[in-house]
Amino acid sequence: MDIEFKKSGPLRGELTVPGDKSISHRAVILASLAKGESVVHKISMGEDVKSTIRCMRRLGVEIVRDGEVMRIRGKGYAGLTEPDDVLDCGNSGTTMRLLSGVAATRPFLTVLTGDSSLRRRPMARVVKPLSMMGAVICGRENSRLAPLVIRGGELKGIEYQMEVASAQVKSAILLAALDARGETVIRETVLSRDHTERMLLEMGANLERNQNEIRLRGPCDLNSMEWRIPGDISSAAFWLAAAAIVPGSEVLVRDVGVNPTRAGVITVLESMGAEIHLEDYRIINGEPVADILVKHSELKPIAIGGSIIPSLIDEIPVLAVAMAMAHGTSAVRDAVELRAKESDRIAMIVSILKQMGVEAAETADGFVIHGRGKIPGNCRLAAGGDHRIAMASAVAGLAAEMPVMVEDFNCVDISYPSFLQDLQALTR
Ligand code: S3P
Repeated sequence: MDIEFKKSGPLRGELTVPGDKSISHRAVILASLAKGESVVHKISMGEDVKSTIRCMRRLGVEIVRDGEVMRIRGKGYAGLTEPDDVLDCGNSGTTMRLLSGVAATRPFLTVLTGDSSLRRRPMARVVKPLSMMGAVICGRENSRLAPLVIRGGELKGIEYQMEVASAQVKSAILLAALDARGETVIRETVLSRDHTERMLLEMGANLERNQNEIRLRGPCDLNSMEWRIPGDISSAAFWLAAAAIVPGSEVLVRDVGVNPTRAGVITVLESMGAEIHLEDYRIINGEPVADILVKHSELKPIAIGGSIIPSLIDEIPVLAVAMAMAHGTSAVRDAVELRAKESDRIAMIVSILKQMGVEAAETADGFVIHGRGKIPGNCRLAAGGDHRIAMASAVAGLAAEMPVMVEDFNCVDISYPSFLQDLQALTR
């Protein structure tokens, strides 16, 4: 489905966005590993989380939809059974990497595969620590790529210094450590999103955190839970940016997760001059949640890099659109990880901006954008199957002088199936 996005009148009103995708994956997996029934409210129903649900069912877990909630009947690690086919993780890196940590503990064969994008993404980063813990795990091209074939078993705790800032890798190690003998220690140079740690603490795991160090003593049992998933800041980010760049806009996004390891997009938009207010800040299931109000303002350029990058890594495509709408030169550096996402997002961001008539250039670990306070548009873009590139292109279209056509827009179903309905409600 190709969709045309045109210069929009003000975006106005309030909305909630789908449940946080990262937390939803973890709620499904952790509830499957706990003993007893867990209930999950407002789970993301995007394709990625559906992939995780499908895989956990294939591992023998009973997961049922009951009206608005998902019920997950966990029987502990030992309750998982050998899948009778390969596990298809679809487009979801989180599914593949987190499940590799689970599979590493089980004394049976698990094969993890995914779509052509996922089969190009780096997997050595999970193969290495899980092998150190004692799992037999290998993949294509010398274990760099999926499919991954895993025969797990008795694992031992390890001390591990993270080589890249990756919450998926950190979580894979923690999931394996839960069923390993002895202590696992993980050290991060730059903090990545910490949902797994927060959720494990809520579930009674034997976990301690001290600045950038995590200690977990296994084996350890998890309590079943009632999870209330906050709105996904990575989805809210499209409306924060859209309202900031479209004149006259004022949007309130309710119930958004504002965990500091995820909220870099707010800091950056504020530094660019956007008017953003956080209201009704509260903690739910160990996660900070707030309502976010954003109004249109003139934006200034910005240069970002260093430790803030992991806290906004998924929001960089839409931040690039905000940078294009600022007057002056903006830059992103230290973001080479963008090249290993659903697409090479550095190449994709620069390519779509150039097609829209914005001056932009790639660097090895980021890009530079020469913003002129406007986006010419008048183009037809291929998002390359990347949901966040498609939605960032749509937001650009709302501010562009001439229409922006986005091909195969359905890929937004990965994280935000109701994007077009929400856009319609805000522009009505
Ligand atoms: C995720 C972690 C991030 C992020 C991804 C989801 C997660 O990747 O980009 O969309 O749920 O753990 P990293 O593993 O590179 O941090």
